[in-house]
Amino acid sequence: MIRCVNKSKCEKEEKVAVKDNIIEYLELNRGSYISGEQLATKLSISRTAIWKAIKRLQEEGYNIEAATNKGYRLAENTDVLSVGGVEKYLKAKGVRLEILKSVDSTNEAIKLRVNEDEGLVVAALEQTAGKGRLGRSFYSPNDTGIYFSILLKPDIATEDITLLTAIAALSVCEAIEKCTDKQPSIKWVNDVFVDGKKVSGTLTQASFSIEDFGVEYVIVGIGINVYSPENGFLEDLKDIAGALCEHKNGNLKNRILAEILNSFFCYYRNFDSREYIQKYRDRSFLIGKNINVISTKNISSHTENTNAKPAVAIAIDDSCRLVVRYEDGKEEALSTGEVSIRI
Ligand code: BTN
Repeated sequence: MIRCVNKSKCEKEEKVAVKDNIIEYLELNRGSYISGEQLATKLSISRTAIWKAIKRLQEEGYNIEAATNKGYRLAENTDVLSVGGVEKYLKAKGVRLEILKSVDSTNEAIKLRVNEDEGLVVAALEQTAGKGRLGRSFYSPNDTGIYFSILLKPDIATEDITLLTAIAALSVCEAIEKCTDKQPSIKWVNDVFVDGKKVSGTLTQASFSIEDFGVEYVIVGIGINVYSPENGFLEDLKDIAGALCEHKNGNLKNRILAEILNSFFCYYRNFDSREYIQKYRDRSFLIGKNINVISTKNISSHTENTNAKPAVAIAIDDSCRLVVRYEDGKEEALSTGEVSIRI
């Protein structure tokens, strides 16, 4: 039993839990009105406590409709991520999902919990310091995207970790295709594009044992821009970043998150079959394109493109490396780094 030592802290936590439970229950019953009495019985609290919690949720921006003699329901244009809302569509087994209102980075939040079993998934409604690949940041404004990280303890070779990023990108594509009318494609290695704009990226981080260099844990962090931010994307992202939809659309975020987890864990549990590689290839749009290969060193020292090496992307090999041919005819299989399309 958990005993509360600090009374006001406990009351605050209780209020947060009530609000979360209300959102989840309304989400589970999306489309129908739920009376204050039903909610009160369900959560074992008074109707006044329900009324106060609903008022607080509305003040926080949740669009909850209230109708006399009917009760409450989530408005059609409310798309809130919730555990209950995701679980409604979740088929993957062994997933323990938690959703935070706000966090610096879900990858960092998971790093504090790497002693837990694999399958922990931490999502957040916003990230205040979202991380991107190669030391970049990932813009993660409140309520417009899906930001989450998965904790894995895979028994795989270190060089196969890139395959987890590939599985993530493929799963994002499959989820987008199932839940929207968009046709996503992949820019090696982790970017998902829709209508020429990047809508999703994956940051995979891993820890290795110093004794045998075995993989201790892997964190796969995925960010998706579902809606455009209220004031548009920041100036430096405007030409690159895009979103899946213009307007809020029911429970899209919950469905997309569940479908990503369904696909991801299906491929992950059949990792050795490598059936995902061909599917990843089929969605890759770089093959045959003239590109610039930008070395990691150049990116981290912010001298991007100054030392970009022209090449042609010729294939994605069985380890998900991008095979490129340089102008002098030499070929290289890239396992990490960055490429851009040459116009
Ligand atoms: C990239 O495109 O450079 C990768 C972006 C990865 C962003 C996700 S959002 C959830 C997780 N937490 C982070 O801080 N980053 C990843």
